[in-house]
Amino acid sequence: MNGSNPLSSDTAEALMAAAEEARGRAYAPYSGFSVGAAILFGDGRVVTGCNVENASYSLSICAERNAMSTAVAMGLTRPVAIAVAGPDGVFCPPCGACRQFLAEFSGGMPVIIKGEGGITSIALNELLPSGFSLKGE
Ligand code: THU
Repeated sequence: MNGSNPLSSDTAEALMAAAEEARGRAYAPYSGFSVGAAILFGDGRVVTGCNVENASYSLSICAERNAMSTAVAMGLTRPVAIAVAGPDGVFCPPCGACRQFLAEFSGGMPVIIKGEGGITSIALNELLPSGFSLKGE
């Protein structure tokens, strides 16, 4: 379950709903751009995160890395899928740094994003071709 298998649309919708809920907890007073992320694991658990900004701007953390770091601290290192929710109507795929960060734990998991026509799913390795690896693969 750790590859790029598509999720059922119900599961994808539920994961997006969890990301949207987490988005409500974003701390984004500087950009005003709130983001939420929800990561599904094989045992059904969902771990969420939001962006957390700082007056020293570069210290800000994205929602996706916040969620994945929380999951690792809980002992969950094999994500099945992630949903990312930005402001309404904004297509919000993970930034480049988050793509690399997430690829550490799953090369090809589905990334669920809300597009114009509703929910879409893109495999992480499509979003991050030729990501960095110490093995040079
Ligand atoms: N942000 C995320 O949380 N995830 C991304 O993938 C891209 C950007 C946040 C960082 C910053 O707090 C705000 O969005 C504006 O860049």
